[in-house]
Amino acid sequence: MSAADARKARARTAEPRPVRLCLIGFGSVARAFCALLAQQERALADAHGMRVLVSAVGTRGGSLLAPDGLTAAAVLEAVGDAPAPPQAARPASELLRASGADVLVELTVMEHDFAPVSTGHVLEAFALGMDVLTANKGPIAWNWDRIAEAAKASGRRIRFESTVMDGLPVFSLLELTLPDCRLLGFEAVFNATSNSIIDAMGQGETFADALARMQAAGVAEADPANDVDGWDAAFKAAALANVAMGAGITPAAIARESLRDVAPERIAQARAAGMRLRLVTTVTRGTDGVVRGAVRAAELDVDHPLAALGGDSLGALLHTDLMADVFVAERNGLVPQTAYGVYADLLHLRRER
Ligand SMILES: NC(=O)c1ccc[n+]([C@@H]2O[C@H](COP(=O)([O-])OP(=O)(O)OC[C@H]3O[C@@H](n4cnc5c(N)ncnc54)[C@H](OP(=O)(O)O)[C@@H]3O)[C@@H](O)[C@H]2O)c1
Repeated sequence: MSAADARKARARTAEPRPVRLCLIGFGSVARAFCALLAQQERALADAHGMRVLVSAVGTRGGSLLAPDGLTAAAVLEAVGDAPAPPQAARPASELLRASGADVLVELTVMEHDFAPVSTGHVLEAFALGMDVLTANKGPIAWNWDRIAEAAKASGRRIRFESTVMDGLPVFSLLELTLPDCRLLGFEAVFNATSNSIIDAMGQGETFADALARMQAAGVAEADPANDVDGWDAAFKAAALANVAMGAGITPAAIARESLRDVAPERIAQARAAGMRLRLVTTVTRGTDGVVRGAVRAAELDVDHPLAALGGDSLGALLHTDLMADVFVAERNGLVPQTAYGVYADLLHLRRER
């Protein structure tokens, strides 16, 4: 019997151990995460020996406090289609304390400028003895060193797989499957919305029409700056560089080119020349040891792995020392895949204990 099978057999015979979550932020990712927990309830118990319960949910618009714990399905039912949980809003610090949770799941919005609110949630959770899961790039991109230090000092853990490529493994790929392998730099297409707009423009649609169509479909954010001005990619670049390259940078240090400034003719000319234009994020370490990054429109040869990524795809070419170039890509990634990344992180937490 393999070690994994033996673990599953043990999990089946023992009573599932309750794991209590405090969810701060209850938008599309948190709801998809709860739907996935509900769907996987049986597998969590049988294969992992876990009974996952939600003891608090908080947004600025409302809260739900249930220290004994509710199933994820019960939470979804209690909130329904309402924009916020049904009880009056409570400050996050009050909810964290009252929840008695084992794990904070931080799913609030990405903040610019040192992510003070979400980083505060993370630090407070560590101080209360909780581990943390998040898909929020802000804390990792702006405050990684501070967070890593606080995690170490408190003996708690934080996982954040979905911050960079939805649920596609990048951090756990490096950490768990490429031991001792160093990330030297990377090239990536990190933002599917801007990639889709480029493809649409290549087919004759204007930038404004393509953006409006994606906003109407709920794919692009209402404020398009994060997608088309390269901010989303810059956050992801800083997060990955900070964690995997010890870069100590912030998104503000990543040079950005906006898709608004890319002439449609440039996209057509690239195609005519047998190339593809992509908004490419490049991160390298200079001979001075300093890590630098940029998000720039670039004409790529068709046999470049990033050139082949269609509008709905994300991908990263990871330059490593021991495994040469490793290419990871995702097609059709949507909110459920981001939720899966958080779910996978929950299982990794369990495995580590
Ligand atoms: N959507 C994706 O596919 C995706 C992919 C990768 C990463 N992410 C990241 O995952 C996180 C969640 O994304 P989402 O799409 O679920 O966002 P969303 O739908 O906009 O939901 C955000 C939630 O956070 C709450 N919130 C915002 N600020 C808060 C605060 N200060 N305190 C408490 N609650 C707060 C919001 O409610 P109120 O406004 O009522 O407070 C809302 O419930 C974001 O950081 C996003 O960048 C998302």
